[in-house]
Amino acid sequence: MTLLSVQNLRAYYQTEVYGISRTVRAVDGVSFDLFPNEIYGVAGESSCGKTTLIKVISGNIKPPLKAFEGSVNYNFGNYKADMLQISQDELRQNVRWKEISYVMQGSMSILNPVRKVIETFRDIVDSHEPIRDTNKFLEQTRIHINRLGLPTDILNAYPHQLSGGASGWQSPWQPYSSPP
Ligand SMILES: Nc1ncnc2c1ncn2[C@@H]1O[C@H](COP(=O)(O)OP(=O)(O)OP(=O)(O)O)[C@@H](O)[C@H]1O
Ligand SMILES: [Mg+2]
Repeated sequence: MTLLSVQNLRAYYQTEVYGISRTVRAVDGVSFDLFPNEIYGVAGESSCGKTTLIKVISGNIKPPLKAFEGSVNYNFGNYKADMLQISQDELRQNVRWKEISYVMQGSMSILNPVRKVIETFRDIVDSHEPIRDTNKFLEQTRIHINRLGLPTDILNAYPHQLSGGASGWQSPWQPYSSPP
């Protein structure tokens, strides 16, 4: 069984600034198949389109990025997803976290630099289901962060205070006095 089939995928950035149109052909005719339990690496020089490919195959296509041609199809067993046609609701309900998760590189551009980690958790959880019980939310967040092998006090840190994940990881910030 093919888990993911990408065929002749073309996804371009189309920008218009001061009346000047530009097209960046970031992903231009990519095809590959991925099978269950397979580890598939994508390597290439900077700006060759790796991140753009990940965006498209994870259903994160937003202007100025547009998929022009090709197909991206998942077969999750009892659920199939066409990532170029799927609705945002379907993505959220059936695919994200349940079938596909990814961690983007670059905490300073991915995480809001002026919000503490706990607030980023709050934003994400709240966007799925309004938080009614703050204590329960905090407890679940602490359990989650501990399951990752991280100390609870990182919830009070800002992204720039976190390590990028180098080996031999050590807490690079001073813990705050109050718990989150
Ligand atoms: N929002 C955007 N608008 C216009 N062009 C973009 C945008 N994002 C990326 N690009 C361009 O698309 C091309 C592919 O970028 P992409 O980020 O996918 O490369 P990458 O292989 O992930 O690079 P790196 O190894 O540096 O992370 C680059 O030329 C980049 O400048
Ligand atoms: Mg990249």
